[in-house]
Amino acid sequence: MSRSAHPAGPRHADVLTEGHYTAPPADLNVLDEKVWARTVSRNDDGAVTVGGIEVTRLAEEFGTPAYFLDESDFRARCRAWADAFGPGADVFYAGKAFLSRAVVRWLKEEGLNLDVCSGGELTTALDAGMPAERIAFHGNNKTAAEIERAVQAGVGRIVLDSFQEIVRVSHIAQRLGKRQRVQIRVTVGVEAHTHEFIATAHEDQKFGIALAGGQAAEAVRRALTLDGLELIGIHSHIGSQIFDMAGFEVSARRVVQLLAEVRDEHGVELPEIDLGGGLGIAYTSDDDPREPHEIAKALGDIVTRECEAAGLATPRISVEPGRAIVGPTAFTLYEVGTIKHLEGLRTYVSVDGGMSDNIRTALYDAEYSVALVSRRSDAEPMLVRVVGKHCESGDIVVKDAFLPSDLAPGDLIAVPATGAYCRSMASNYNHALRPPVVAVRDGEARVILRRETEEDLLRLDVG
Ligand code: LLP
Repeated sequence: MSRSAHPAGPRHADVLTEGHYTAPPADLNVLDEKVWARTVSRNDDGAVTVGGIEVTRLAEEFGTPAYFLDESDFRARCRAWADAFGPGADVFYAGKAFLSRAVVRWLKEEGLNLDVCSGGELTTALDAGMPAERIAFHGNNKTAAEIERAVQAGVGRIVLDSFQEIVRVSHIAQRLGKRQRVQIRVTVGVEAHTHEFIATAHEDQKFGIALAGGQAAEAVRRALTLDGLELIGIHSHIGSQIFDMAGFEVSARRVVQLLAEVRDEHGVELPEIDLGGGLGIAYTSDDDPREPHEIAKALGDIVTRECEAAGLATPRISVEPGRAIVGPTAFTLYEVGTIKHLEGLRTYVSVDGGMSDNIRTALYDAEYSVALVSRRSDAEPMLVRVVGKHCESGDIVVKDAFLPSDLAPGDLIAVPATGAYCRSMASNYNHALRPPVVAVRDGEARVILRRETEEDLLRLDVG
């Protein structure tokens, strides 16, 4: 098995053997609830509905391609995370997975905090009324202007990512006459994948400050001595699409060791630790993600145990799930265009979107599922590759999947679990118009991010 690092985990890297694709499911009409948003089902006429609305109606009203986001599922997942961690911990939704002003309002109403990692995300959060103290500001290269805006706005924490940034934030806070709450992001030497993790002695990556070689301890010393900073804790984030808690265990142990060192050296017990995000979701029926309460219990137990062993009071824990909240709540709806049967090779099903609305397959070799959603079909399954309309052969949406063999141009197909890192990583490649995000809830659908238009393209092109 390959152990090559990959931001999206091994299912997305090169650890699966060729031909792992096995038999078709018994009934292609069945929607696996693991990969579909909670209010998605197939009605008696055979069409798929979300929030009680048929996808055929949604396609007529909003066009394709489009992302449909199940708002009640999103809110339920927020509540599940908040309840699982309880009032003694903090859940920060990672806005990079998908952010819009409507999303910010839902987070605010459901009691979550928000992690932003750019000036744009910060602006969206503040504009939609997220209280600044509930915002964490991340990034390995925040500009001075971004830091200034964050400090000025009064964000709850800035996660310091380098020695230079410790000084930068300190100077800016002092200039503004403020004392900024900060955490230090450390790299703990854990590289976590879906079902495995690797503990290493050093980290070759652009994020954070290494625990190795006493660097993180030195960063803490500096942050404690510089004016304008209130060091509230240590942050670590170990990877993406993780199902196995063992990587978090090693990470938490190493972070707690640092807290103990800090206490011994400075007589200070830092009150918080943040264990980052990265919790996995089901993209296909093969994936078995954990529920938030299991994750909360596992993380809580690890930290409590390690702190007891080190004679420390248990710090307040925070986590930053992005994918695990928004990922499963949305699907992308496409209309089938050309279908090409290459004899003895493969069947290509082309849709009206592609790598511009889902770059993850091309970028990470990510796996997705797909279903015919505009009607029921009892035709034989056929193995297909779903591709987009871009001028590039790597423009693949779903590498290998079964669809009914009577699939025809004009049918609607949907790719589930596209809520995270699809719209947020969408591009205008080939002057594609980025699709809208439509929130659906209790029989009502409303656009929360509109479709781009050709006028939008021309407006940016100043001639
Ligand atoms: N916190 C920090 C500091 C992070 O860097 C990230 C993700 C998260 C939280 C949220 O991770 P999540 O729970 O969403 O996995 N574009 C890639 C994922 C990159 C993740 C980067 N950081 C993908 O499409 O898989």
